[in-house]
Amino acid sequence: MSEQKLLTTKDLNDFKLLLNEYNDKLVRSSQKVIIAKSKFSKGEITIDVVKRYEEEYKNTKVEFKEKVNNQKFIENLKYAAKTLSNFKKSEDEYWKAYEDYKLAQFLFKESKIAMKDRGHGGELSRLSDVALKLNNIKFKYNPNHPFAVNGVSVEVKHGEYVAIIGHNGSGKSTLSKIIIGVLRPTVGSIEIYGNRVTSSNINIARKFLGIVFQNPDNQFIGSTVRDDIAFGLENRRIAPSKMADIIEKAAKKVNMHDFLDHEPLMLSGGQKQRVAIASALALSPDILIFDEATSMLDPKGKTEVKNIMVELKNTREKTIFSITHDMDEILNADKVLVMNKGELVKYGTPKEILVDKNFLRSIHLDIPFVAQVEEALKNVGIDLEHSNSLEELVEKICQN
Ligand SMILES: Nc1ncnc2c1ncn2[C@@H]1O[C@H](COP(=O)(O)OP(=O)(O)OP(=O)(O)O)[C@@H](O)[C@H]1O
Ligand SMILES: [Mg+2]
Repeated sequence: MSEQKLLTTKDLNDFKLLLNEYNDKLVRSSQKVIIAKSKFSKGEITIDVVKRYEEEYKNTKVEFKEKVNNQKFIENLKYAAKTLSNFKKSEDEYWKAYEDYKLAQFLFKESKIAMKDRGHGGELSRLSDVALKLNNIKFKYNPNHPFAVNGVSVEVKHGEYVAIIGHNGSGKSTLSKIIIGVLRPTVGSIEIYGNRVTSSNINIARKFLGIVFQNPDNQFIGSTVRDDIAFGLENRRIAPSKMADIIEKAAKKVNMHDFLDHEPLMLSGGQKQRVAIASALALSPDILIFDEATSMLDPKGKTEVKNIMVELKNTREKTIFSITHDMDEILNADKVLVMNKGELVKYGTPKEILVDKNFLRSIHLDIPFVAQVEEALKNVGIDLEHSNSLEELVEKICQN
C-alpha cells in the first residue's frame, strides 16, 4: 500500500488556506470594480478602466472555480475505500486501512464544508504540539522608530502557562498584539499549532486565540451576562440550539453561572473579568492571552481571577499567556518570558528566572514577595529551597 498517496490533515489545512487566499483575491477584485464604478460616475475615470476591472474580476472568478475544488479529496476517499476493500476483517492490515478510510472520509467532509464558506468558517487543525512558535519577530510602529519588539524567538508547548514580564514599554503588549494578529510583524514568522500564519489565513488562525484585556468595563456589549457570552458565539455563527449549553458551561468554569441574567455593569471588577474570561472560553480557544487582566482589580478581584487562571492551567487544556506586572503571579507560571527594550532577555522556569535577582533589578523589575523573604533569610544565614507560594515558604520556615 503506498501511504504517500493518502492525504493528511495538513493537506486539508493547506486547502483551507488556498480557499482563503482566493476568497481574499475575489473580494479585493470585486471591491476594485465597485470603486471604479463610483469613480466613473463622478467622471474621474473612463469606462475602459471600469471594463478592465470587470474583466479582471471575471477572470478571478474563473480561476477560483478551477483551483478551488475538492476533487483531490474525492479521489483520496475513493482510493482509501478501494484499499480497504482489498482486506478482510481478519487481516491485520484491515484495521490500518479502516483508519485511513475514516480519515479520508473526515477530510472529504471537511473539505466540502470549507468549500461552502470559502474557507472562512473553516478551522485549522492542530498539526503540532507546539502551540506557538515565534521566529525572530521584529516590529516597528514607525519606520524611524526603534524596534518595539526586536528579534523575539520562542517555542511554547500546548498546555503551558507562560508569564510575560518586563518594565513599562518593554514590548509586552506589542508582542501580544502580534500574537493575536492585530499587528503584523515587520520581520519574522509565527506558527500556531504548526500552521504558519499568513495575511490570508490570519482570520482562521485567530480561532485558536482568545484574549482578555486589562479594563473590565471595556469588554461588554450585552445587556445580560448571558447575552454578552452569546455575542461572540453569534459572531462565529454557532447554531442557536447549541448556544445555551456552551454559555452554561463557560459560565460554570468561572463560577458565574448564577449570574447569567445579571447586568454586566452591575458586577464587581473581579466578576466582570470572570465574565470576560467566560466569553473567551465559550469560543473554545486553544490559546488564551491575559493582558494585565488583574491589574485594575481590587485585591479580592485579583485573587478571584488569578484562581481561575490557575484552575485553567491545571486542566492543561489551554495554553496560557499572562502579561503581568504582578511579580507574585509569575510563581504560578510554568515559564517566564522576560522582555527588556523589545528583546526577550530571559526565558525559563520561575526558579531559573529568580536565581539572578540583581539581573531583575537591573531591568527595573520587582522581586516576588516570597523571593524577597527568601533573600532576606539567606542574608542572615537561613538558606531555604525556592518556594512557589507563601504557604510553602511558611511551612519550610516552620520545619527549619
Ligand atoms: N501605537 C503606538 N505607536 C507608536 N509607538 C508605540 C505604540 N504603542 C506602543 N509604542 C511603543 O512601543 C514600545 C513598546 O510598547 P508596549 O506597549 O508594547 O510596551 P509594554 O511592555 O506593554 O508596556 P506597559 O507595561 O507600559 O504596558 C514603547 O516604546 C512604546 O512607546
Ligand atoms: Mg502593555
